[in-house]
Amino acid sequence: MNHDAHNLCRLINMQILEIQNAIVYRGRNKVFDDLSLRIGAGEHTAIVGPNGAGKTTMLKVLAREIYPSRGSVRIYGQDRWNVWELRKQLGIVSADLQQNYAPHARGIDVVKSGFYASIDTFGHQTFTDDQNRTAARLARDLGIEHLSGTSFSQMSTGEQRRHLLGRALVHDPSTLVLDEPTTGLDLTGQFQYLHTIRELMNSGKTLILVTHHIHEIPPEIGRVILIKNGKVMLQDSKENALTDQNLSGLFDVPVKVVVHNGFYQVAPDYSDANG
Ligand SMILES: Nc1ncnc2c1ncn2[C@@H]1O[C@H](COP(=O)(O)OP(=O)(O)OP(=O)(O)O)[C@@H](O)[C@H]1O
Ligand SMILES: [Mg+2]
Repeated sequence: MNHDAHNLCRLINMQILEIQNAIVYRGRNKVFDDLSLRIGAGEHTAIVGPNGAGKTTMLKVLAREIYPSRGSVRIYGQDRWNVWELRKQLGIVSADLQQNYAPHARGIDVVKSGFYASIDTFGHQTFTDDQNRTAARLARDLGIEHLSGTSFSQMSTGEQRRHLLGRALVHDPSTLVLDEPTTGLDLTGQFQYLHTIRELMNSGKTLILVTHHIHEIPPEIGRVILIKNGKVMLQDSKENALTDQNLSGLFDVPVKVVVHNGFYQVAPDYSDANG
């Protein structure tokens, strides 16, 4: 699906993801008992919830790495997908991928590995001139060109993350799915990454952001799904979702929400304790 098709999806109000009444297991753990949610095309969405809530599991359902044992999952309106085709629509960066990535892979090969959805590139894989040019352009745009020959294990967390973002972008996917993208980055790294993500949204990509860091939700994100203990607590506009009451309930700790320039931040709320 190219961007025209993606825009058509928006016009006809198609969902990127629609899950209905799904039961999802990770190993022997039942993570979701009755999961239903939808994310529309063009609807930048944050999925927010505490550790262990099921956020990453939900992304694995979207990426077709995990299948529900009951219920339906439709992606771009289809319930059957060739995994290769799906990978071209969804650019995914996960913490799992960063942990499992080949330590010896060189920077530019990390980006190019996106063409085969592989970990590192291999001798039998061939790359067209066009693909080589795309990888070089992405490396330039993401500010990682100077690391083309550096091995993955010798990069900082932020540099690794940028390479994996490049890897996710090689097919120019219409939807970008990021799982805790700024974890482990210092403030400059967080802001740079945020800037890049905002540019990608402004260039027409839909962002699905999984996080428990409220402050990393860019202003462009208008919709929030709150999940807790394998249940969707709420799916609503950001304004309605990110309230003192909802977030205090979500994280089981009293918090106060502060909004500045479209960014949300939370602070502990000690007002009860102080009388
Ligand atoms: N490979 C696995 N096998 C069995 N259970 C798992 C596995 N991975 C995760 N779980 C369990 O599934 C539940 C949801 O995990 P998940 O990774 O989706 O949470 P999360 O919301 O992404 O949390 P975090 O914020 O810590 O990343 C947790 O209870 C976790 O212990
Ligand atoms: Mg997770």
